[in-house]
Amino acid sequence: MSETVSLEPIQAHEIDSELERSLTHEWDAQIITYPNDLFPFNEWIRDRIRLAGYPVEDLSYFHEVVPASETYRITKQLCSDTNLPEFRRLLNRFVREVVVPKGKLRQPVAVQRFMNVRIMLPTTPELFFPLHTGLLYGHGVASRSLWLPFVDVTADEDKTRAMQIIPIKKSRELVRYAIDHKLTMQQMTEVWGKHTHQIKAGPGSCCLFSQEHIHGSGMPNTTGKTRISMDFRIAEAMYGDLLGRKIPAGYFHLIPNTEEEEERLARTPPREVQFKNGKQNIFYVANNTAATYSIPVHLQRYMMYDYINKKGLSCDYELFDLEDMLHCPTLWHLVEDRSANIVMYSIFALPEEQAERDRMLETALQRGNIVHFVNEDLQLVTADDLATIRNYLEFSRYGRSRLPMGLPFSDLSRAYFDRWAASLARYQHTGNRDAASSGDAIG
Ligand SMILES: [Fe+2]
Repeated sequence: MSETVSLEPIQAHEIDSELERSLTHEWDAQIITYPNDLFPFNEWIRDRIRLAGYPVEDLSYFHEVVPASETYRITKQLCSDTNLPEFRRLLNRFVREVVVPKGKLRQPVAVQRFMNVRIMLPTTPELFFPLHTGLLYGHGVASRSLWLPFVDVTADEDKTRAMQIIPIKKSRELVRYAIDHKLTMQQMTEVWGKHTHQIKAGPGSCCLFSQEHIHGSGMPNTTGKTRISMDFRIAEAMYGDLLGRKIPAGYFHLIPNTEEEEERLARTPPREVQFKNGKQNIFYVANNTAATYSIPVHLQRYMMYDYINKKGLSCDYELFDLEDMLHCPTLWHLVEDRSANIVMYSIFALPEEQAERDRMLETALQRGNIVHFVNEDLQLVTADDLATIRNYLEFSRYGRSRLPMGLPFSDLSRAYFDRWAASLARYQHTGNRDAASSGDAIG
């Protein structure tokens, strides 16, 4: 038996009027320009494709040089290439010098770890992205998106290889309508498609939008030309707990606030050297925090194995923490009593209470027990690392966030909370007693 829960969408203006102002102004599908000679992303991408063995001159004619069967592999390679240090330096500078001032953001900011590079061929009508919003994909209200096409799609005839978008206020109405009327993908394409407009941009310009904007290709590319574009998200620290399922530092990386800081970090020694301290590595799995409560231990373990294999580390043992003991006695035992390194799922598996957590991290550092945080690819080896880990926890307001880390701020989370709270209350106050008095046997 389920109760009817009346739902109202949670919107930015309910949370913070400045966030709402920003989303409905600078980030309401606005086109901004940037100097392409200083930030030649399109040329960098073209050169990476050429390095892969395909002598592409004009990205619009990519499909005439690269076989369609190779395109997906090249796309994934390009996404991965965006994590190369030279690209990150270029992108971080772009964020500091263009996006922060033009988007009126406040530092510190975090940027998506891997950019999405997309190649939309004119020869594959089945492979396009339906209209959607970021919120519907688990992103949070405070996250911002940028779309940068690397071919010019400003002409009307380029419509089907451009991206389509709907202004924020109309998008909110249309998403509400789609949820209330349980629209199919086909119906969403039809109903939403009537309100979209073509984003007209090219190298040197890009579109700023939010997680509430309906956008997407929405239709096959029939222009006879390829579209290559990049998109990514950015988040301000002041709203670090409003990022839905895409929490730092797994998805978002904090970027240095200045060029000088960037330069200093580029000179630090390679991590792999620091990891070799002669100690054994013990896996620590637990469900003792709000963020890890519902993450099955076997999935945590898969992530840990994947991590140690990539880093060339050994796994020597595994310990669990104790259910219902939120003070994490097993983790304390590993940190204080054993001389071993710890491989754990996430910084969000650390105690939520700040003083306890600080004491634990400082103890591990003093004792020379390296702690690996797999989900975030963070490690505690040096005092600098401790500062970085604290920065990430501070960014996401860990332990004092407005919602448990990892839940989207949406109607659905509200509905689930209400349902669980109601069933728990019934169990505790009536169901349990009724079951006992009616003589229901257990076991
Ligand atoms: Fe999208």
